[in-house]
Amino acid sequence: MAETILVLGSNGQIGTELVTALRQKFGENQVIACDIKEPLETDGPFEQADVLDVSGLRKLFEKYQPTQVYLLAALLSAVGEQKPKKAWELNMDGLLNVLDLALEFKVKNVFWPSSIAVFGPNSPRENTPQYCVMDPNTVYGFSKLAGERWCEYYFQKYGLDVRSIRYPGLIGWKAAPGGGTTDYAVHIFHEALAKNSYECFLSENTALPMMFMNDAIRATLELMDAPAEKISIRSSYNLGGISFTPEMLAVEIRKHLPNFSISYKENDPRQAIADSWPKSIDDTYAQKDWGWKLKFDLKEMTAEMLNNLKK
Ligand code: SER
Repeated sequence: MAETILVLGSNGQIGTELVTALRQKFGENQVIACDIKEPLETDGPFEQADVLDVSGLRKLFEKYQPTQVYLLAALLSAVGEQKPKKAWELNMDGLLNVLDLALEFKVKNVFWPSSIAVFGPNSPRENTPQYCVMDPNTVYGFSKLAGERWCEYYFQKYGLDVRSIRYPGLIGWKAAPGGGTTDYAVHIFHEALAKNSYECFLSENTALPMMFMNDAIRATLELMDAPAEKISIRSSYNLGGISFTPEMLAVEIRKHLPNFSISYKENDPRQAIADSWPKSIDDTYAQKDWGWKLKFDLKEMTAEMLNNLKK
């Protein structure tokens, strides 16, 4: 059966790359990019959509009768702390609106991203397991944790095939990140090439789990391709990626740009968020259930970022 796919939040860091990958896989006209704002360039079907506007969303579902929906619209961790109620509303009501419409229109699969932000200061920091204490203290984090519970609930209660990944910080060269705590790991490459220096808002030894976008997109497609009986987790899968500190990234960048210098800004509010998150993640379930395997390590990711941004 031909797929018809709605990607809600298509202009963001993930959406930009996911739409391209889905169009390569399923055909340009099968993938409808949807965002609250018009994109800068349109090279396939696009619809303006606000995930908080149920009647507008319903019209989209009626028009396209999607078989798959990817809901990417969200406020991230740093921006969410500036607009806590807005973050909760967008992240939670947006999800519930889409889950309800997915049921009503008998959508085959739904994808919704969660995050390492679902963990908190009392979660184990190293090799954080799938199941452990979770006490996130950012609105973004607890909206994602609550969202995970809803996803599992819609699966168990209504049989909706919803799948999810707890993404680490995502690093790509095609689109800018949208206000998160892990954004430094993208900004650093732009500034390294533009100015050969970077002032980092996290301290030099702040380790966080990160992932090159190609791996994240591949993981998403692999999870969505997996047979339903292989999916043992209907909340959201841990995904490990590469764990590194700003200093380790700076050392790697210096292998390409020997004079690159990094300095560290103190007292940025994002430091406290990073300090409450895991340093590394155990993704055994993703490996076992749907064969997940990371391809890009720190060295390869750094080379890819610099080579592509140079062009
Ligand atoms: N990268 C996101 C953030 O920093 C986490 O999911 O908010």
